[in-house]
Amino acid sequence: MLETSLRLPNGTVLQHRLAKAAMEEALSDPHEDPTPELARLYRRWAEGGAALLITGHVMVDRSARARPRDVVVEDDRALPMLEAWATAARVNGAEVWMQLNHAGRQTPRFVAREPVAPSAVPAVKMFASFGRPRALREEEIEEIIARFGRAAEIAERAGFTGVQIHAAHGYLLSQFLSPRTNLREDQWGGSIENRARILIRVIRTIRASVKSTTAVGVKLNSADFQRGGFDKEDFAAVVRMLDGEGIDLLEISGGNYESPTLFAGTSTASREAYFLEFARAVRDLTSVPIMLTGGFRSRKVMEGALTEGVVDVIGMARPLAIDPDFPRRLLDGSVDRSEVTMKAVFLKSFNALADGAWSWMQIRRMAHGDAPDPKLSTWLSIAYYLFFDLFLSRTRIMRLGLA
Ligand SMILES: Cc1cc2nc3c(=O)[nH]c(=O)nc-3n(C[C@H](O)[C@H](O)[C@H](O)COP(=O)(O)O)c2cc1C
Repeated sequence: MLETSLRLPNGTVLQHRLAKAAMEEALSDPHEDPTPELARLYRRWAEGGAALLITGHVMVDRSARARPRDVVVEDDRALPMLEAWATAARVNGAEVWMQLNHAGRQTPRFVAREPVAPSAVPAVKMFASFGRPRALREEEIEEIIARFGRAAEIAERAGFTGVQIHAAHGYLLSQFLSPRTNLREDQWGGSIENRARILIRVIRTIRASVKSTTAVGVKLNSADFQRGGFDKEDFAAVVRMLDGEGIDLLEISGGNYESPTLFAGTSTASREAYFLEFARAVRDLTSVPIMLTGGFRSRKVMEGALTEGVVDVIGMARPLAIDPDFPRRLLDGSVDRSEVTMKAVFLKSFNALADGAWSWMQIRRMAHGDAPDPKLSTWLSIAYYLFFDLFLSRTRIMRLGLA
């Protein structure tokens, strides 16, 4: 089942069912342009055998990055390096899609003191790193929609075979979808049709900007898991709305910075595929192929989800940060599950940050030509991650020791 190919609506044929989900690399140069390290990293992942490689989020607006060294595509000035990135990712014939994003209120203070959001809701409460957002004006919303279209067109020109719109994890499009963060009373807020309007407009704009053979995917939250947030009913309504919009793959995830359920299966928990019940709930509402991401670790659970007919593509992130060859090894039968995870820290509230930081350190190691290090300290990873964003990212120094 894992090895069965899959034809997507745009005609793309995925060689099998294993995909690398997006992981923010934060590997741009100080001008937010891509680097040779990104090409090296994606060549490594391509050799690992995934059928589809989705890049970490690439921001459509420099002032709305989630981390200082996120890659930004606002124009085609870095086209040659983008081409090198796409070419490296394609060495094994895999599909490579660029994930496009705008961080909205999840833009940290040291990127923008006053981030923008659907509404002027309170700042994200996390280590005092976020400023209180101001509400976007209508013309600014139109400008952001246009930015998604422009970035998609540039990604296609650079050789990416598709794009994925990031509408999950509490970033701007997900903020519009959630009644907790979208308090607007105009055409962009209120009913779920209005809250989803920006996402639908982004899809249509991108579809009009790229060839029909270029894939367009969407990553959507099953829920925010917050009181008064985007819930299961909203999720079902959006899935229905997306059905006629010409998308090629719908990835299901969940959570945001304040409620990081996307990492529900941290090393302390053993539950796999933790959003599976949400995929079950919407399977019959759409004809779009579904990719499910979050907690997949064993062949048994992956094959179960595929055989049940609920899920078409298995998305994995953290396992591929520590073992880039995991897809190939699953397919050739040499392993049945991903065993290595970080050591959880005793302060529970740090574990979501730790999960991101530890995997990111492994990604950086690969980008610099080193093998991942299963023994890497969790606290050291957190410290390096914070030090990098607060200080190192402002310098021209690309690398210090460890990662
Ligand atoms: C280091 C790191 C960076 C991530 N960056 C992104 C991102 O840029 N875009 C995104 O949609 N998800 C991102 N994620 C979330 C993953 O795509 C995925 O949804 C999550 O890790 C759960 O899947 P897993 O259990 O296979 O790791 C990131 C995860 C990690 C560990």
